[in-house]
Amino acid sequence: MTFQQFKQHAIKELTSSPSAALDADVLLQHFTNKDKTYILFHRDEELTDEQETILKEAIEKRKTGLPVAYITGHKEFYGYDFFVTPDVLIPKPDTEILVENAIQFIKEKTEEKKRALKVLDLCTGSGCIAVSILKFLKEEKIITTELLPDFILADISVNALKIAEKNSERLLSDSAKKIKFIETNLFNSINEKFDIIVSNPPYVPALETDELLKDGRNEPRLALDGDVNTDGSPSGTTDGLELIRNLIIQSKAHFTKDGILILETGEYNAEKTESFMKQNGFSQTKLYRDLEGQLRNVSGIFNG
Ligand SMILES: C[S@@+](CC[C@H](N)C(=O)[O-])C[C@H]1O[C@@H](n2cnc3c(N)ncnc32)[C@H](O)[C@@H]1O
Repeated sequence: MTFQQFKQHAIKELTSSPSAALDADVLLQHFTNKDKTYILFHRDEELTDEQETILKEAIEKRKTGLPVAYITGHKEFYGYDFFVTPDVLIPKPDTEILVENAIQFIKEKTEEKKRALKVLDLCTGSGCIAVSILKFLKEEKIITTELLPDFILADISVNALKIAEKNSERLLSDSAKKIKFIETNLFNSINEKFDIIVSNPPYVPALETDELLKDGRNEPRLALDGDVNTDGSPSGTTDGLELIRNLIIQSKAHFTKDGILILETGEYNAEKTESFMKQNGFSQTKLYRDLEGQLRNVSGIFNG
């Protein structure tokens, strides 16, 4: 079977995928270890028997709804290659705006304080937010190495933290020493105070989470459902914000003077999140849209 014949086979098989041609391209590139241009110019090249078997198996997995990123174990986020497994949410392009906003806040606050900031990435999952921020700040020389923030990456899932650790080791070299990992339920095991807290917490309403998971995507429910109490039980709310409300309340004990909280939310619950932050004493709250024009981030300052 040639590269082109495989692509035709994949498109024919992946009738329920909204992105069959793209799926086929990504799988072909990954399992042949060739880039897009090579494949384009060598469409009549024969796959080895081993490659054909692996690729056909990959198509069968994709047919169950398993995302391509879990099949290849990789997902590009903020221009960097992250390792992913079904223990972590697959990093989404929607979240890149959170990275951009955090970078801006970190840059300004580091200039103001003239010291390395303390930053928390709560609900870190694959670590894509903190690792992208640190990598970008360092590689683009936005902040000198000695003033790079000290990051804590925290998550309730020990398996997610293992992936975050792997990503930080793979993508960051010496700046990896600026990172600490904590297994914690929200702030339960966190004693430090932070200049900036950034988080993409679970914020999807429970019913919508049920719907999303029906497509076989295999993403952890723990990473999506925001209608949960602090003990993880269903909260009975329907706005997806119960975990965020607890996060906002608990965060107040963990800011240095004029600490900044930046959250990702759904477009459907961003404004409600902003109101809740105001009710809890956050000032200068602000909403941000993602590249699709949807409300996606909320920030605020807590002065104690
Ligand atoms: C929406 S995912 C975000 C993952 C990653 N930061 C990203 O942007 O792709 C939410 C993460 O929150 C974690 N989580 C859920 N409940 C938590 C809790 N009570 N305390 C800490 N982390 C929690 C999940 O394990 C999951 O990794």
